[in-house]
Amino acid sequence: MAFFLALFVCGAAGDSDAAEPPKVDLQVGKAAYQRYCARCHGVLGAGDGVDAKRFYPRPRDLTLGIYKFRSTVSGTPPTDEDIYHILAEGLPGTNMPDWKHLSEETRWQLVYYLKSLSPAFNENPPQPVEVAADPGPKHADIKKGRALYEQLGCAACHGSSGRANGSSAAGLVDDWGLPIRSADLTQGWSYRGGANPRSVMLRFLTGIDGTGMPSYSGAISPEDAWHLAYYVETLQEKANWNLIAHPMAVEGPLPTTVEDPRWDSVRRTDIRLRHVVDNNGTWVSAPTVKALVLQSMYNKETIAFRLTWNDPTEDAVETVDSVALLLKTPQSQGDMLSLQTWPYDGSPVLDICLWSAKTKEAVEAVAAGFKAVGTAAVRSQRESQAEYKDGQWRLVIQRPIEPPASERASALSQKGLTAIGFAVWDGAYSSTRAVSPWVELDLRNNVKSDE
Ligand code: HEC
Ligand code: HEC
Repeated sequence: MAFFLALFVCGAAGDSDAAEPPKVDLQVGKAAYQRYCARCHGVLGAGDGVDAKRFYPRPRDLTLGIYKFRSTVSGTPPTDEDIYHILAEGLPGTNMPDWKHLSEETRWQLVYYLKSLSPAFNENPPQPVEVAADPGPKHADIKKGRALYEQLGCAACHGSSGRANGSSAAGLVDDWGLPIRSADLTQGWSYRGGANPRSVMLRFLTGIDGTGMPSYSGAISPEDAWHLAYYVETLQEKANWNLIAHPMAVEGPLPTTVEDPRWDSVRRTDIRLRHVVDNNGTWVSAPTVKALVLQSMYNKETIAFRLTWNDPTEDAVETVDSVALLLKTPQSQGDMLSLQTWPYDGSPVLDICLWSAKTKEAVEAVAAGFKAVGTAAVRSQRESQAEYKDGQWRLVIQRPIEPPASERASALSQKGLTAIGFAVWDGAYSSTRAVSPWVELDLRNNVKSDE
C-alpha cells in the first residue's frame, strides 16, 4: 500500500520537485533571501554581494531578470519550476550551492521573492519551448546528431570534439561585461544545467541568455533536437575522480611517448584544478583548464607520468602553456601546504619539475617558487615528449624514483604514499594558473591494469 502511495505522489509531482506550491508571502522570501543569498547576490539583488568578486562566474544580477537555465523561449523569463529547480540543485561547478536543506515552503517563497526583484516577470510571461517525446537512447540517431552539431555551428564555439576550442570560442563577453568561455562539452560534470540529454536539449533550444550561447528553437525540429542532445552526450568523457593514484608496475623500459599503446591499459585518475585568484582576490578571466588526467607506470628505477589536460589553444611562442609536477621536500614533509597559496613569503621550498611548451623540455629543481627553477644552482633535465591535438595537451615525463643525492631532488616512497601536486598554465591567460590538491601516489601494490 505504502509503495503504491509513494508512486502516486511522485507521479502527481511531475517535473517540479514539490507537490503544491504555497501562497505567496514576500516577507518570508525576503527574510530568507537576506539570510542566505545576499552575501553573494547583494542586498538588493544586483549581484554585488560582499563575496561576489571572489567568484567566477559571478553571482547573478537578479534585478535584470536574465536567467541562463530555463525551459522557456529566449528572452522570456524562466518558469517558477525552473527557478525552484535551480534552488534545489544548485549550479554544479560554480559557487552557487544547492538549498536542499531549506524547506520546500522556504524555497518557493524564495522563488516568489526573486521574481519580485525584476520587472521582466511582469512584462513577459514565460513561454515554454516545444519539446518532442524522448526517443530513448536506443532510437536516438547519433549520426544525424553529429551532422546537426556541425551544421548548426555548435563546433564554431565548442570545437569539433567538444573541447571548447572552436574558432569563435575566444573573445566572448557575457551580458555582464565579463569574459566567458563556451563550455567544454567533454566534461559532462561541468555542465551547470545538467548533462543528461533532456537538460542539454533545453540548453540549446532555449539558449543560455546573457552568454552568447544562442537559442536554436526554430532552427531545429523538436524531434531532431533529441538526436543532437544524444550526440552531445556521447562527447562526455567519464571521469575517475580520485585523490590516490595507483601507478602500474611494469618490467623493463617505460613508455617515452604519449602515443604508446600501453597507456591504454593504465587506470586514469582525474583531478579537479582550481584557479588561483590574483593579488586582489578577484578573477581576471574565465578558467579554461579545469581538470587534469594523471596516468603513471613505473619499473624498479624510474616512473613515467602521462598528463592529459584540455586547453582550447596551443600557446608556445610568447605566452606559453606549461605544467609543473610538485613534490614535497624533507623541509616541507607533513606541512599543511595548499598549492592555492604557495608560493608565499617565507614558504618552504618544493621539488618542481617544470615543462614548457616553448622549450619542450622538462627541468627539475628544488626551489622557493616557479620562476626560481630556471636559475636554481642544481637542475636536472627530465626526458619528456608532448603533443597538442584538437584542444588537448598530452605529455609524458620520466623521472627517477630515487634520484641520486647529487640531484638534490625528492625521492618517491615505495613503502608508503607520496604526495604529488600539479600546476597548469594556459598561456592565453598567463596571469593565472590552475592548481591541484595533493594527490597520493601509491607505489606499494603492483596494480597490473584497469579492472
Ligand atoms: C556563495 C555564493 C552564492 C550564494 C550564497 C548564492 N548564490 Fe545564487 N549564484 C551564485 C553564482 C556564482 C551564480 C552564477 C552561476 C552561473 O552563472 O552559472 C548564481 C546564480 C543564481 C541564479 C541564476 C540561475 C540562472 O538560471 O541564471 C539564481 C536564480 C540564484 N543564484 C539564486 C540564489 C538564491 C535564491 C540564493 C539564496 C538561497 C543564492 N542564489 C545564493 C552564487 C551564490
Ligand atoms: C556563439 C558561441 C556558441 C555557440 C554557437 C553554441 N554555444 Fe553552447 N555555449 C556557449 C557558451 C558561452 C556557453 C557557456 C555559458 C556559461 O558559461 O554560462 C555554452 C554552454 C553550452 C552548454 C553547457 C550548459 C551548462 O549546463 O553548463 C551546452 C550543453 C551547450 N552549450 C551546447 C551547445 C550546442 C549543442 C550548440 C549548437 C546547437 C551550441 N552550444 C552552440 C557558446 C556557444
